[in-house]
Amino acid sequence: MISSDQQQLQKQQVAAEALAWVRPDAVLGVGTGSTVNCFIDALAASGIHIEAAVSSSEATTERLQSHGIHVRELNLAGTLDVYIDGADEFDSHRRLIKGGGGALTREKIIAGASRKFVCIVDESKKVGVLGKFPVPIEVIPMARSYIARQLVAIGGQPELREDFITDNGNLILDVHNMDLVDPVAIEKRINNLPGVVTCGLFAIRPANIVLMASSAGVQKF
Ligand code: A5P
Repeated sequence: MISSDQQQLQKQQVAAEALAWVRPDAVLGVGTGSTVNCFIDALAASGIHIEAAVSSSEATTERLQSHGIHVRELNLAGTLDVYIDGADEFDSHRRLIKGGGGALTREKIIAGASRKFVCIVDESKKVGVLGKFPVPIEVIPMARSYIARQLVAIGGQPELREDFITDNGNLILDVHNMDLVDPVAIEKRINNLPGVVTCGLFAIRPANIVLMASSAGVQKF
């Protein structure tokens, strides 16, 4: 268990390391969360010029723009070379749980539209088997109860995220205690439920590289 000060330091370390993946004048995909916030700040301080960023959330857009970084709509950007984002958990196959910040849908779209997904995390995010962190699922509001029942039927315990609406106007169900030994199979199964917008498992399209800060420095998986 690391202290919150150590964790913040690790976020800054791994964010600085991720700058090595930023090609000058690129159009860069940028995720959401506190680790990515450190990355955005590091990018601005680095003086590396990028043509534009494709943003995964309103919060990230605001932060990018506050640093004078131009934000471009994904539809006008084509395939991106690199997407940089955090995660709530990762395993040794670089499969992830994401969506703790509720931005999973736009994150998954941009990850899909990018050649390389570089995931930046501190050491608290590493797990043997995914699933300690509840799996966020973005759902269309009218399907909430139906999907919750289906999730119970496959062994999960869904909980509605209180007072939270996604940037897309939908709800989040956080699903506890799911058996995620085969995360690809579960991701496909959840994706198939009508009314599910996105499942926070990133197993079908995992990260290409995970950079993890630790007391021994930044490690690459
Ligand atoms: C946002 O919706 C999430 O997918 C984040 O990438 C994830 O929650 C990691 O956030 P932190 O960097 O704040 O831990």
